[in-house]
Amino acid sequence: MDTEQILNHYRDPEFVEFYKTFFGEKFMNIGIYKGSIESLEIDNEEINKTAFLQKAMSKKNDLLLFFIKNYVNTSHVGVNILEMGGGMGETMRNIFKLVKNSRTEYGKSSEYALYSYELSEENCSVNNLLNFEEDIRVKIYNRDFLNTLFKDESINLIISEDTFHQVSNKNVLFNEIKRILSVNGHIIMSDLFLNEDCSDEDRKNVSKLLNINSILKQSEFVLLANTFNIELCNSLYYRKDLCIHFNVCYHIAKENEQSEKIINYFKNWVDASKYLTAGIFVFKKIY
Ligand SMILES: C[S@@+](CC[C@H](N)C(=O)[O-])C[C@H]1O[C@@H](n2cnc3c(N)ncnc32)[C@H](O)[C@@H]1O
Repeated sequence: MDTEQILNHYRDPEFVEFYKTFFGEKFMNIGIYKGSIESLEIDNEEINKTAFLQKAMSKKNDLLLFFIKNYVNTSHVGVNILEMGGGMGETMRNIFKLVKNSRTEYGKSSEYALYSYELSEENCSVNNLLNFEEDIRVKIYNRDFLNTLFKDESINLIISEDTFHQVSNKNVLFNEIKRILSVNGHIIMSDLFLNEDCSDEDRKNVSKLLNINSILKQSEFVLLANTFNIELCNSLYYRKDLCIHFNVCYHIAKENEQSEKIINYFKNWVDASKYLTAGIFVFKKIY
C-alpha cells in the first residue's frame, strides 16, 4: 500500500467510527480465538461478537507480550524499544507497564525509552489522549517508520503487529531496520503472509482483494531478512484464527448495518483469508 492509501483508510470517518465502536480504541490486530473457536457459531446472532473480537485481540496482545518478556530483559539499563505502526498504542501502553514494573532498585536509574512510529494522525491522536489519561510515557512520532530519526544501531528491540504487509517495498523496510537495530537486537512481530502453496494467480487475487501491491510468503520474507543479516529464531502460526477473525468482523459489520463500503471491505478479507496465514515471529540481527 502506498502512504496516501494508508492515510486515507485510517482517516475515513466511517472506518474511524467502526474501529472506535467495535474494535474499542485499543488494537487493530488479528485476534487469537484458540479455545473458544469450537463453541463459536459465527452466524448465531445471540453471541456478542464485539466482546468476542476484543477479547481475542487482547489475547493475541498478551501472547506477543509473553514473547517480548522471554527475549528482552526490560530491567536492563538503556533499553530502547520501537514500535513500527503503533496504531492506537495499546501494545506500547502494556510495554510501558511491563518496563515500569520490572525496574529493580538498581534499574531505577536506568534510561529506557519507548518510541511509537505511526503514519496516521487520527491514530496518533487517540493514542496521545489515552496515554495522557493513564500517564503513559511513550514518544509518539507521527512519521513514516521507513525513514526514522534514529542513529545507527540505537534500538534494542523493534516490535510490530500486523503492519509490515502494508509496506510495499520490503527492501526499504529491512534497510531501515538493519540500520537502526543494534547487533543481537530482536524484532518481535506479527503479520500475515501468503500461504506457501499459493500460485502466482493466488497472489494476484489477494493483491486485488486487499489492494496490497506486495504480499509475501513467509519463506520469502525470511529469505529477504537473511540478506540483511537478520535471522528467524522462533515462530508461532495461527492460520485458523485469521479466518475466524475476518468472519467475525464481517458479521459485526453486517449485523450492525454498516455501509456497503465497510461490509465489502471485510468480505474481501474473508475471501482473501483462504490464501493467508498469520503468525508471531522473532528475528535477530546477528551482525
Ligand atoms: C493494521 S494497523 C495495526 C496497528 C497496531 N499495530 C495494532 O496492532 O493495533 C497498521 C498500522 O500501521 C500504520 N503504518 C503502516 N505503514 C506505516 C509506515 N510506513 N509508517 C508508520 N506507520 C505505518 C498504519 O497507519 C496503521 O495504523
